[in-house]
Amino acid sequence: MRSVAITNAKGGVGKSTTAINMAAALAELDRRTLLIDADPSGNAALGYFPRGTPAVGLADALLEGARLEEVAVATEYPGLEVVPPGDRLGACSDQMGSVQGLGQGREFRIRRLLKGLSGYDVVLVDTSPVLTPLNVAILYAVADILIPIDPCVAALAGVRALEDLVRSVSEFRIEFTDAGPLAIAGVLITRADRTLVSKQIEAEVRNYFGELVYPRVVPASVKFREAYARGTPLVHYDRFSAGAVAYRAAADAYLGGSGGGRSAPSGPEEIEEPESDEDSFDYREAS
Ligand SMILES: Nc1ncnc2c1ncn2[C@@H]1O[C@H](COP(=O)(O)OP(=O)(O)OP(=O)(O)O)[C@@H](O)[C@H]1O
Ligand SMILES: [Mg+2]
Repeated sequence: MRSVAITNAKGGVGKSTTAINMAAALAELDRRTLLIDADPSGNAALGYFPRGTPAVGLADALLEGARLEEVAVATEYPGLEVVPPGDRLGACSDQMGSVQGLGQGREFRIRRLLKGLSGYDVVLVDTSPVLTPLNVAILYAVADILIPIDPCVAALAGVRALEDLVRSVSEFRIEFTDAGPLAIAGVLITRADRTLVSKQIEAEVRNYFGELVYPRVVPASVKFREAYARGTPLVHYDRFSAGAVAYRAAADAYLGGSGGGRSAPSGPEEIEEPESDEDSFDYREAS
């Protein structure tokens, strides 16, 4: 079983959208997939259950000792289940001790929950952008992280803070657990558009992370919001849209484990254009 947290200390970069669509794409590839929504706002779970997420979820596994299988909810897609955050996740996150502390083993609760899982090939964890003790606990628990990056001006600044955290968590993991260091499974550029700033920052990210960056970028597209409002992953809502194709490629790259196996472009002139005009529409410029 592989486990990956989708994380970035920056808000609104496409973490939940990535969690929703990667989960759908992995299940489509016949991987038994569990999507755990570890953000109290429940945005990833709402992507599957738009009328509201179940009250019981991850919080109950953390507080009451329920097993994750017991709080997982089936979706309409074969092989894909979702653990909603549960109504008490916000409070629960606050009770997990200090950000750095390892007091009373509370930080390892998620780790124990994940270790107790069987019957899944991949576990994806969507995280909140705030550096909560819960998010740190998730970094102790999973094998890898996947970093979605929105190529806006301050993209790398947020990522460097995350890398510092990954380094210190890795040291603790090596010292206190049998987990080994926390690895970066991949970096996914999301919401890419045709603007110069998007291309320049994509080049900067590729230069910084090299082969860890998945070859295909996720284009900015209004279809993501449309699909989300209907509680359907874009991967299913509009199967052949550039966004859906990009998330299938990301799922492939994740399973391949090497960022897709192609060397990253080194300069802006080598960067691919998004596939279709329609999908590269930049709603931020339009609004
Ligand atoms: N490729 C994309 N193109 C256009 N809009 C997108 C794209 N990806 C995500 N969005 C939209 O951007 C908004 C933020 O995305 P999302 O919720 O996935 O980010 P997040 O990183 O999970 O945010 P938070 O930090 O608040 O949890 C949502 O309205 C989503 O529909
Ligand atoms: Mg989110």
